[in-house]
Amino acid sequence: MQLTEQEQKMLNGKEGYAAKKSMEILVALGEIFGAENLIDVGSVQVAGVSYHNLGDAGLEFLDELAKDGRVKVLTTLNPAGMDLEDWQQLGISPEFAEKQYLVIKAFERMGILVSCTCTPYLIGNLPLFGEHLAWSESSAVTFANSVIGAKTNREGGPSALAAAFVGKTPCYGLHLDENRVADVHVQVNTRLAKLSDWGALGYAIGKKAENKIPYITGIKKADLDELKSFCASIVTYGAKPLFYIKGITPASEQQTQPKETVTIEAADIKNAYDNINDQVTDIELVCVGCPHCSIKEIMEITELIQGKKVAAGTEFWVATSRSVKQLADKRGYTAVIEAAGGKFACDTCMAVAPLKGRFKSLATTSAKGCFYSRQNLMKTKMGSMEECVEAAVTGKWNS
Ligand code: F3S
Repeated sequence: MQLTEQEQKMLNGKEGYAAKKSMEILVALGEIFGAENLIDVGSVQVAGVSYHNLGDAGLEFLDELAKDGRVKVLTTLNPAGMDLEDWQQLGISPEFAEKQYLVIKAFERMGILVSCTCTPYLIGNLPLFGEHLAWSESSAVTFANSVIGAKTNREGGPSALAAAFVGKTPCYGLHLDENRVADVHVQVNTRLAKLSDWGALGYAIGKKAENKIPYITGIKKADLDELKSFCASIVTYGAKPLFYIKGITPASEQQTQPKETVTIEAADIKNAYDNINDQVTDIELVCVGCPHCSIKEIMEITELIQGKKVAAGTEFWVATSRSVKQLADKRGYTAVIEAAGGKFACDTCMAVAPLKGRFKSLATTSAKGCFYSRQNLMKTKMGSMEECVEAAVTGKWNS
């Protein structure tokens, strides 16, 4: 790789330990993937924040880097293993909380914004079209590449941190236009009626376009919440973290329709639901906000749950970022949801919180949420926001 004088100095340790380690990581990655140089990034999004996934070895690694590592660009964090303010109400142990705070303190010392969300684009880390980034969380990476038209590979936690300390990333993969060309045409021949249908569509396309970049036609309209759900699902179930939807995503006009075509029919959506849903009726946890809820989704939940009560024996969690929750506080949505017995799970989510063994069943709007909750040994149901609120209030899945 061609390094500038300044990059070489960092590699030689002239800017301290963290910059040296970071350059070693970036150069090694660049050499593996055939990058010729490093490029500037506009922002970084770091995953690997939950103590549940990091353990003591990860915490030690972060503490070492935090001694002299300071980020050079806007850097935000993925969800942590707990709500950083109200962790007790989510049943997190004091021992876990203590370790999670140490992780957060290490990130703070590095100059990272403790945003703890997988929707950084909703809270101030909003890239521009064509901007190069080093983001890690798969749904956010897919959103940045596809919905915004920015350019990022799916970084691991350490390589994203390294990019934050250097302000650069190796130029390979999805940073290069030749690797961003759609290679399968997906014709959608069915109507998407509710939010969870987008998760089912992501499942269906992910399976048919495994490791490919889909160019999707047949979709007439989409809103932000539908697209963020679709981003989470399509990449979880197999496609690359980049897609084009004709007439909807900004770079779709620069693409030509690939020759290879697959279709998505109503039967594919049904098949997705059949595969994502388990046989279960009693619901112990309802969790919405995967990816983290927008203020519009919280408004919708408020309208649905107003005047009702969450069933005894069932928990209802609304996962979102601290910033969006603050907006919900001001608008009075939080008070309504909490009066109904719902809980906010800020800064965290059902996949990274230590939930294994705590709940036997989950209802959610999210296909990705179902995928990770099965790993936490839960039986899963996916449906609309209405169906999820209904499950929270009755403790049952009725459809
Ligand atoms: Fe976000 Fe967690 Fe879902 S990181 S996309 S809420 S699994």
